[in-house]
Amino acid sequence: METPFTDHLTTADYEQIYEPAEDSFLLLDALEIELTYIKSLQPQVCLEIGPGSGIIVTALAKELKRTLCLATDINPLACSATKKTAKRNDTCVDSINCNLVDSLREKSIDLLVFNPPYVVTADEELKNPSFIGSQASNNIVYSWAGGVYGRRVIDELVNRLDRILSDKGVFYLLVLRENKPNELIRNLNELGFLAIICIERRIPGEYLYILKITRK
Ligand SMILES: C[S@@+](CC[C@H](N)C(=O)[O-])C[C@H]1O[C@@H](n2cnc3c(N)ncnc32)[C@H](O)[C@@H]1O
Repeated sequence: METPFTDHLTTADYEQIYEPAEDSFLLLDALEIELTYIKSLQPQVCLEIGPGSGIIVTALAKELKRTLCLATDINPLACSATKKTAKRNDTCVDSINCNLVDSLREKSIDLLVFNPPYVVTADEELKNPSFIGSQASNNIVYSWAGGVYGRRVIDELVNRLDRILSDKGVFYLLVLRENKPNELIRNLNELGFLAIICIERRIPGEYLYILKITRK
């Protein structure tokens, strides 16, 4: 998969939206490895939650020409950046400013992708980042602050997965070692999903995994 152009985004943009980093590129690498499988599913609807700059969903939209590619982000600036990134790369992504999958139809998503806010923080930081300062800094805090074990947002989505993933759907989720991936895999199992580690990588200061999650 080609890495999309992002030269339309500026340093000022990256003060309020997440700048693609090693975690973003690990997820892109996993999706590239999985591309033949993903295409074989003939996904009708792809959703990236939390697209930030839009680099990942844009790369998918370039490959999946018959798939409706959507993105949801709680940061409105990430939603507009994602649309711009898609346009800059001659493709189309619809972005929706909402929490996780709030505005989506049940069992509608064939391909789900999420690089979540996974950093271990105090819950207070996640619930009320406004103590830090402006809306601009809140936008960035929400891109990384994950609460206890970095699992607050991940767990909220996992508990809603059965309602959103289609019968043939697949979900690629990035997690950090501190997020307790093995415990997460067991939780997913109990909820009726099969979760495997698709790819893992050590990066400076972090050890990351991509989980591939399907229905059993
Ligand atoms: C680590 S960044 C990933 C950005 C991009 N996908 C990448 O890999 O470069 C996490 C993104 O998730 C968004 N986000 C955090 N919590 C969310 C929620 N509850 N619902 C939707 N988006 C959320 C953030 O605003 C941010 O854009």
